[in-house]
This record gives sequence, C-alpha cells and structure tokens, in this order.
Amino acid sequence: MTGNCRNGIFTTEDTGLTEENRIHSVLSVSSVVKTSAANSKLETGNSKLMLKAVRGTRDLLPPDTDLWNRVEAKVRDLFARYNFHEIRTPIFEDTQLFSRSVGEDTDIVSKEMFTWEDKARAQSEKAQSLTLRPENTAGVMRAYIEHRLGDKGTLQKLYCMGPQFRRERPQKGRYRQFYQIDAEIIGPPSAGSESPLRDAEVLEMVATLLDEVGLHGWQLQLNSVGCAEDRVRYNQALRDALKPVVHQMCADCQRRAETNPLRVLDCKVPEDQPIIEKLPKISQYLDEPCREHFAAVRTMLDAVGVPYSINERMVRGLDYYTRTTFEFTHGGLGAQSAVLGGGRYDGLSESLDGPKAPGIGFAIGEDRLILALQSQGETAVEKVQAYVAPLGAGMNPHALKLARELRREGVSADIGDESFRLKKSFELAEKGGARFIVIVGENEVAAGQFAVKNLASGEQVQVPRAELAAHLKAAK
Ligand code: HAM
Repeated sequence: MTGNCRNGIFTTEDTGLTEENRIHSVLSVSSVVKTSAANSKLETGNSKLMLKAVRGTRDLLPPDTDLWNRVEAKVRDLFARYNFHEIRTPIFEDTQLFSRSVGEDTDIVSKEMFTWEDKARAQSEKAQSLTLRPENTAGVMRAYIEHRLGDKGTLQKLYCMGPQFRRERPQKGRYRQFYQIDAEIIGPPSAGSESPLRDAEVLEMVATLLDEVGLHGWQLQLNSVGCAEDRVRYNQALRDALKPVVHQMCADCQRRAETNPLRVLDCKVPEDQPIIEKLPKISQYLDEPCREHFAAVRTMLDAVGVPYSINERMVRGLDYYTRTTFEFTHGGLGAQSAVLGGGRYDGLSESLDGPKAPGIGFAIGEDRLILALQSQGETAVEKVQAYVAPLGAGMNPHALKLARELRREGVSADIGDESFRLKKSFELAEKGGARFIVIVGENEVAAGQFAVKNLASGEQVQVPRAELAAHLKAAK
C-alpha cells in the first residue's frame, strides 16, 4: 500500500491483496477524480461512478446503531464503576510505533497495515511514514510515555473506543475498519502494576461487562506466555524443533522460523497445522516467578467464580505480550469466534523508550460483540413515544410548540404536517413505530387539552396540556 497527501487530503493507493481485488484509492474524496484502470470498471452506462463503501468497510445504520449505543452506554457506566477514565488517541500514528510494539514479524505489521508516506508540506516539516492504527494499546502507551502519566505514581486505568484498521480478508466478523472497546491498566511497579491482582481484576471486569451487556455462553481461554527470558528459551526450542520440518511449511513460516519463531504459531495454512500441533508448548518454558504469577491469577479467578479453561496454544498475534494472555470467545460468531483478546505487556513501555511501566489490558471487537448479541436475538429498537399530528390550516406552529414542550420534558417526539389527512398521520405514526399519537387541532389548542391515542391498544383519552408529558412518560 502506498500513499500521499495531496491538496491537504490524505490518500492511499490500496494495491490489492489478490488479483481479484480491485485497486482502490481510499481515504479520500480525491479518489473520485483519480482514474485508475481498475476503478474505471465501476463506471456505469452514463459514465457516472456508483460509489460504494470500500471493501471491508461498512455503514452502521439504525436500528443496529441503537444496539451499538446501548452497549457503549452500559460499558461506559461499568468503566466508571471500576474507576477507568477515557483517553482518546489519534487515528493515525508514526508507523514505527506499531512496528516496534506489535512487532515486525506479526501478520498485522507485515501484511495488514494501511500505511502511507506523508510528504512534508513545508520546509519545517519532515516527511514521515504514517499508519492508520491497527490497534489501540500502542497508541495508549505512547500517550502514557509522552505525557509522563507515570510521574503521578498511581495506576492509570484508561479506556477508549473507536475504529481500528487492518487490511485483512473481509468475512463475517472480520472487517478492514472495525471498532474496539479497549481498556488498559498501566503504572509504575510501585503502584502495583505488576501484581497478579491486576490481571484478575481485569478478567473479572470483562466477565461482568459481558454479563451486563447480556452476552450468554461466553468462554474465557487463558494462558501465560512468560517473560522476556522465557521467550528466549522458548524461541530457541521452537527453532530446534522447526529445523528438520520447516522446509515443508509455507514461506511465512520459513521466514519466521529464523526471525521470530513464536509467530509460526499464528500460521493459518491448513497443511502446516499438523507440524505446529507437535511443536513444544510455552508452558514448559516458564520460570518460577512466571509460574507463581499465573497460579495466583487462577486462584483469584476461582475465588470470584469466573470460569476459564487453559489454552496452552494461545500466544496471541502481537509481540508485546508477557505472562497472562486471554481471549473470550462466543459460539454465535462462526470462524471469527474471539469477541475480545488481551493480556499483560510488562516490557512494552521500555521497547518504546519509556520508563518501566508494566500493564495489562484487553480490546473487545465491538462489531463481533454486536454480532454475538444479535445471534441471541438481541435488538434495541427505541420506540419514539409521541407522534404529534397537526390538523388543518396553521397548526404547524402549535405542533412544533407542543413537541418542543414534550421534548424538553424528556419525551421523544416526531411531528407530522398540517397538510396530512388524519388517516395519513396515523399511518405514518404507526410506520415510524410511535407509541402514541397526539392530535393538535384548533379545538384542542383552544381548550388546552389534546386527544392522545395509544397506537397499540387503540385507547384514546383527553389529556390537559400541563399533564401531557407526565401522561406519556408514565404510560406503558
Ligand atoms: P487483538 O486480538 O488483535 O488484540 O484484537 C482484539 C479484538 O478485536 C479481537 O478479539 C476481535 O474481536 C477484534 N478484531 C481484531 N481484528 C478484527 C477485524 N479485522 N475485524 C473485526 N474485529 C476484529 C488487540 O488489538 C490488543 N490491542 C488487545 C489488548 C489491549 N491487549 C492488551 N491491551
């Protein structure tokens, strides 16, 4: 993927993963004026472009967005109870941030990032390589270091929500723009950031979060990937085990067996799986402090009754992890079953030239959480309470005034138009999902009371203006 910044607009040229992929100019309206051989295929008979959402991206529309908002509101409420506070980091960062934290040999950095060369616009600026964030932990850690949040001497409990970008092969639950709800606890060791209590607290919080948003049947898979020293011994063991067989494996595995053998375990090529199954497991290479840490995490999870199973194969696809790693999965998701993933990253700050600042966190794939909830039949269609229907000449201002009063009292309301016949007002109120229709005619305005009809039961009553909001709010 290559890119540029022209006329103040960021544009990247997506070179396509495979032959059948179209070459696309994305991220910019200037893609419309840019004609490439590939996107000219999009032209219709009358030579106008039919613009559609770019492959792997999608529009989130009502009523689905009602469910998204309900989930986000519940999650914000939960974070407040665990004393987490929001951080918002930029959507693009210096490319090096991701190569130095997530790791050069990971799928994310080696294949999936949207990266472009950003040319300098003035002599005072430097050209630099920029990347749309593929995940949020690196950006949060950069901000922690840049703003010296560790100087406070306390734990920083931070959360963020927003879009992430990975150039993966799109399928159900896997998109090129997707949304994460991310939470991190970072701090100096003197504040308790290394304690296994943090790991257990984070896992207990996730379990409560999933229960509170109404997800049933989630499963927690847990592992420990040890510390940096364990990793050196484990990588050597993998190298030794791979030596006699690696020539039978895919090109990525052959390269990774040399550069970063741990990443061989991320391989998805079906023919390589029998070899990967027989490789040594990381649990055999943990030193005593790492074993004790993991045992303490498990004891605390047992104490609070959070169920889990150990998955010794789960090393997660990002290089920064140390010790505890985890994924929560859900059966309603098909192949992309991980609703969220996370773990501890005790050396991440130092790898970005920051102070010692151990941390642990997770990111929920919000698209997948919503899919999992929908697979259980969850919807969140918020019905508008009142449809205010003006009748006859000059009633629009009265309807607007009444709707204003109701809305200010906390009642949701739509307004019709005086030109509609009563029958049409009823039709539109029902189509729009209103619970009540309120008729605004000359007589009603003069008398100061309105005809209110419950559209489900058909019951109609006269309600004085001053009592209308309370009546609509109280009615079931
Ligand atoms: P991750 O496992 O790469 O971890 O992503 C976390 C979650 O994001 C996944 O479990 C999945 O639900 C969702 N996700 C990932 N890629 C896609 C995609 N292409 N389409 C839809 N959903 C996706 C991280 O990103 C770490 N930063 C998590 C973390 C935070 N670790 C410590 N702190």
